[in-house]
Amino acid sequence: MIIPFTDLAAQYDALRAVIDARIRGVLGHGQFIMGPEVGELERTLGSYVGTKHAIGCASDTDGLLLALMALGVGPGDAVLTTPFTFIATAEVIALLGATPVFVDIDPDTYNLDPGRVEAALLALAERDRRVHPLPSAPATLTPKGVIAVDLYGLPADYDSLRSLCATHGLFLLEDAAQSFGGRLHGRRACSFGDAAVTSFFPAKPLGGYGDGGMVFTDDDALADAMRSIRIHGKGRDKYDNVRIGLNARLDTLQAAIVLAKFEAFPEELAKRQAAAQLYGELLGAEPSLCVPTVPGGYSSAWAQYTVRVGGGRRDVLQGQLRAADIPSAVYYPMPLHLQGAFRHLGYSRGDFPLAELASAEVLSLPFGPYLSEGDLAACALGALRALESP
Ligand SMILES: Cc1ncc(COP(=O)(O)O)c(C=O)c1O
Repeated sequence: MIIPFTDLAAQYDALRAVIDARIRGVLGHGQFIMGPEVGELERTLGSYVGTKHAIGCASDTDGLLLALMALGVGPGDAVLTTPFTFIATAEVIALLGATPVFVDIDPDTYNLDPGRVEAALLALAERDRRVHPLPSAPATLTPKGVIAVDLYGLPADYDSLRSLCATHGLFLLEDAAQSFGGRLHGRRACSFGDAAVTSFFPAKPLGGYGDGGMVFTDDDALADAMRSIRIHGKGRDKYDNVRIGLNARLDTLQAAIVLAKFEAFPEELAKRQAAAQLYGELLGAEPSLCVPTVPGGYSSAWAQYTVRVGGGRRDVLQGQLRAADIPSAVYYPMPLHLQGAFRHLGYSRGDFPLAELASAEVLSLPFGPYLSEGDLAACALGALRALESP
């Protein structure tokens, strides 16, 4: 049997009864838009994460947009973020007419490097590209905030980012699409920024069966604004519109499915941790591979198990694994500053060398709480065999 890259089918087998019952519940009451499951999920996940407010939304992308709109981001604003992420993180900045200012990563964690954020702020203040690569914006850019991404499930360096943002009067937004369940110093991911957003895309650690997401914040005013923007800028009701908004609601059916899956989430998270540990034991000694780094005080939600293969061997290894029926994936093959969508920013190859190198070297292996130890060992062995061959 071919080993699956993710184990959603096995998860459904295990959780079928509770998922089906939840779906039937929604079909029974028929409140498909903003039904009671949306509020129930908001209360459940808000209390798990430990924030005052949790606001269901249509996707992580829409959640980021809700937060940026509520924070008043617009033309002339610079929002600093990593180029080593999914397009959504920076797309929302550009959608609002603001300018993404990319900052290179820490090569060990793949997350935004706070030291380089400082350099980018200095470069923006002095309008000096020699200090740090900047976009070729026609006018002066005002730094407004930072979007950090918890890549592969590992929270970014929020100790540094939070104090840096406070010093410079910037907002901090946590793109926790991949890190629901991760932790830093005992605090859960989705609780680190002025607001944080997660995704219920099916392959995420807590995924639904379609699009969905949730925004978390402790800030009452921000929460009120995001709740309004989520439903067409509603005021007292949806026919009283006090601002320009979106249709960015979380579907009741998706909320119901995520509620069902959340029952198994703590156990699944422990299994993800055990799977990552097993891969680490089997692959950690291989000199031509770099296994993930989890610094002290952090724990990853292990959205992916991503190794690094240097010397231009990554694509060869991926081909060899494919030949052995072992799927793998590259998150992400092209950093955002080199994407056509951001050509107008005028960045070039070499601006963010660490993100560029990571894009050429990372490879995510089959992973998930329902893959057996045997499957994981077969994947690890397949990778080791492939690396031995000339
Ligand atoms: C880091 C990151 N940000 C944003 C997104 C977008 O999430 P969604 O599909 O829920 O909009 C993803 C999903 O892949 C992601 O990994």
